[in-house]
Amino acid sequence: MSQNGKKPQKTLIVQYTPRNERSNTKKILDAYIGEIKNSNIERLDLSKDVPDLFLEQNLDAYIHRNYLGQELSSEKKNLLSKMDRMTEQIKSADVVVVAYPMNNFSMPAPVKAWFDSVMLKGETWDAKNGSYVGLMTGKKALAIVTAGGNYEKEPMASWEHALSLTKIEFQFMGYSDVRGILAGGMSGGENAKSLSLENSIKQVQSIAQEWNQEK
Ligand SMILES: Cc1cc2nc3c(=O)[nH]c(=O)nc-3n(C[C@H](O)[C@H](O)[C@H](O)COP(=O)(O)O)c2cc1C
Repeated sequence: MSQNGKKPQKTLIVQYTPRNERSNTKKILDAYIGEIKNSNIERLDLSKDVPDLFLEQNLDAYIHRNYLGQELSSEKKNLLSKMDRMTEQIKSADVVVVAYPMNNFSMPAPVKAWFDSVMLKGETWDAKNGSYVGLMTGKKALAIVTAGGNYEKEPMASWEHALSLTKIEFQFMGYSDVRGILAGGMSGGENAKSLSLENSIKQVQSIAQEWNQEK
């Protein structure tokens, strides 16, 4: 409990920053974390704790359990245990921050596998009366993405499938407040890169301050 008797919110940091201390993405993420005041922080490092992919057996178990409502044997349940753990983790957080570099115009495979792991029917979204319903309402999500190129203007804007997809995934799950930063120009000259980093750091600090005000 905080001093005002309210349960502190929980922030889940999901990062894929395998260049560690050399990572530009991590620099922006660290600036966000530095501003967190009234939140418990939990971390998931996707380059160390790699999500499962849906393959023959676990996909079959998922369909039988989540779509057909069947009880699974403990052996089949085990096939979904990592996905279930990651889903429980995202469900337990009030704020989720995902940070990664753009890879080949989209999100790196471990980040996509994480979304596939947590976007489980009946857990973070559902289908009711023929329409999709997000189950994560009232929660906040932020995506921090860095890229070598710049995607603000056409023709490159239509090549951008990293931040745009991430926002759609959170919106589909029903997050009420979805924000995103795309820090481009990381492969450009030193000046452009520093300016982009500086600008992105200011933006995430301002979001963190807004989301971490003591109420
Ligand atoms: C495998 C790989 C694929 C990449 N693909 C793209 C890309 O499609 N578009 C782009 O603008 N930058 C691309 N980049 C550049 C990175 O997104 C950029 O350098 C990023 O800032 C690196 O983040 P980091 O410093 O956190 O490691 C790629 C880099 C790597 C290593």
